[in-house]
This record gives sequence, C-alpha cells and structure tokens, in this order.
Amino acid sequence: MYTRIVRADQDNPDREAVMAGASIIRAGGTVIFPTETVYGLGADGLNGEACLKIFMAKNRPADNPLILHISSPDMLDRVAVVDSSDLRSKIMSFWPGPLTVLLRKQPTVPDSVTAGLDTVAVRMPDNPLALALIDSAGVPIAAPSANLSTRPSITDSADAIAEMSGRVDLIYDSGRTAYGIESTIIDLTARPYRILRSGSARIEDLEAVFGHIEITDAARGTAESEVALTPGMKYRHYAPTRPLFLMRNVEEFVSLLRSSPDKHNVLFIGCSELLDGSTKERYDLGPFSDLRQVGSRIFSSFRYLDSGSYELGVIHPFPETGYGLGIMNRIRKASGHRTASAIEIMEAMGSGRIE
Ligand code: TXA
Ligand code: MG
Repeated sequence: MYTRIVRADQDNPDREAVMAGASIIRAGGTVIFPTETVYGLGADGLNGEACLKIFMAKNRPADNPLILHISSPDMLDRVAVVDSSDLRSKIMSFWPGPLTVLLRKQPTVPDSVTAGLDTVAVRMPDNPLALALIDSAGVPIAAPSANLSTRPSITDSADAIAEMSGRVDLIYDSGRTAYGIESTIIDLTARPYRILRSGSARIEDLEAVFGHIEITDAARGTAESEVALTPGMKYRHYAPTRPLFLMRNVEEFVSLLRSSPDKHNVLFIGCSELLDGSTKERYDLGPFSDLRQVGSRIFSSFRYLDSGSYELGVIHPFPETGYGLGIMNRIRKASGHRTASAIEIMEAMGSGRIE
C-alpha cells in the first residue's frame, strides 16, 4: 500500500495539507496525525468498515476499543450521552486537552469502535492540525496510538514513518508531540468516577473539577489488574524489546551510574541533573523540575533503547504526583513491573549474564 507523507506545521497547518488528510478520511482511508499527546492512527469514526482498517494497520486485537476524536461540543452529542449541562461544562473545561471521557454511546457509533460495549471513549485533542483535520472531515475520527500493537506509542513523526509506512494512506510529518504520554481516561459512567488510565491530564486538576475520583492500582501501574478495566489493559503494552530495569530509588541509580564499568552495553535513562558529567551511555529525559518534558521524551527513550546495541536499560523512579503518575505508569509497564537494586544489576554484569 502506498503511503503519502505530508509535511505539515502542527500548530499552524496550511489548508492544502489539512484537505489531503480530510479527503482520505472521508473516502474511508487511514491517516496518521499528531495530537498533543502521541500520534494517532485515524479513520472515519462513524464508518465501521473504515475503522476495521485501523485494527489491520496496527495488528490490534478487535476487542480493544478506540477513542473518538472530536473538534466541537456538537460532535460530543452525536456520539455520546451527556447527562447534564453541568457535566458537559466540567468536561469542556478540560477540552481541548489530554482528557478522554468514557460515556454511554449513541447508536450511531459503530461496534468496531466500541468493540461492542455500550460505552464510548471521546476526547477533543489540543492540537491545531488534529482539530482542523476533524473539522474538515466533518466526522469524529476514531484513533488509537499510531504504533504497531505492543510497541511504544509514537511521539515523533520520524518513528511513525519508519514503523507505519506501507500500512496507512497518509502520514503527517509534523515532528514531536507536546506531551508524549497518552490522555488520561476517566470513566464518567462509574460512581465514584474512576481513572482507567493515568496520563497527561493531572489527577489533581481533575479532582478540582470532578470531585473525588477513584484511582485504581492498574491506573497507577503498580499492579496488573485482575479484571481488565479497559479492554486495552489485558494486552502487553509499551514494551521495549531490550529489558528495562526500574531502579528501586534514585540513590541506587546514581550509585550504579558511578560504579558500573564503562564497557558494558547498559543505557542509563534519566534526568539531566543525574546524568550530567557521566561517561556512560545515556538518554537524557530533561530536568527533574520539568516532568512534562520528561513525559514527552519517555517513549522516545524506550525506542532509543531498542535501536542501539544495548543489552539492557536502567531508569530511576519519579515522584508519583502530577505528571509523574503517568510517567511512572508507563515505566512500570515498560519494565514488566520489575524493580532492581544496583547490586543486582552489578551482579548480573559480573556473572557474564550481561556482556
Ligand atoms: O492520548 C491518547 O489517548 C491517544 C491519542 C492518539 O489520542 N490515543 C490512545 O489510544 O492512546 P489507544 O487506543 O492506544 O488507547 C485507548 C485506550 C485503550 O486501552 C482502550 O482499551 C480504552 O482506551 N478504551 C477505549 N474505549 C473504551 C471503552 N468503551 N471502555 C473502556 N476502555 C476503552
Ligand atoms: Mg496505545
């Protein structure tokens, strides 16, 4: 399949670039576009057959439902049931932005979007190119993250082109996304409301508007949930091919960084303050004081780990508040929920288990 690559400024896209994608969406094709979180792989969200192409392109299991991306409050009513104007204004106070809401669906939404569930996930992305694309297509755009199933989400168009060329009709070449971690998903059909996935909207900000919200262990990433809260949770996610170890604490990370031999193929992933001056192989996530920037680089660091000749990666933990909650959730998943001490990693190196 031929994939057209279209360069477009995501903050100020020209009309021609927008129309190229919109006409493909209207014709039932697939388009990879930037959002403020990660790249999405979109199709006409009201066209069941078009949405099936998304599952094919990603190798995504058909029982894992999609998020509908909308560009106006009107579109929300076309796809979902919002109980009250109070609830509507609470939702709108986060939109456009990295919040996905789960609501009862309208009958117009095809089963391929919701995987047969009676709820639908909806969000209005805070990205001018994404909004213009949805607006010009005139339909909600169903889109999961644009990566192949089980690969890390895509936060840079270069990765989208490398991974997805030949699998979709068009890819926007628009550089890096602003947040880098997917949207926070809140279930507004549950009482109390609950977070199904931590993400780029901070829980603290959500609680200020929606009141008390339940945060499940699965949303924190501290446990694999017994019962999948979202169908997506039962699938392996965000997994680099090389093993990634989450150090028990920052001190152990620093001690390993200082004491491990240089020759080993270990990639240290961490904040600038800790990595500065080190001669070890490293991936700089940005300053500790800017967790939003750290979030925007976390998936790229996983991809970098896989692209080099590293045997393993090590990463340090972050405080689990604000943007840190979503960051730690992605790290825990990528590391297969295992933590390590400096001594364990050193022993593995010394025993020749890691060359
Ligand atoms: O930031 C984001 O949310 C990105 C950008 C492209 O918008 N999208 C994204 O989509 O991360 P995806 O498909 O990778 O993750 C959506 C998650 C999945 O875990 C899916 O199971 C869940 O949302 N989901 C979608 N509809 C649902 C529903 N009706 N009930 C429960 N979970 C649902
Ligand atoms: Mg995904």
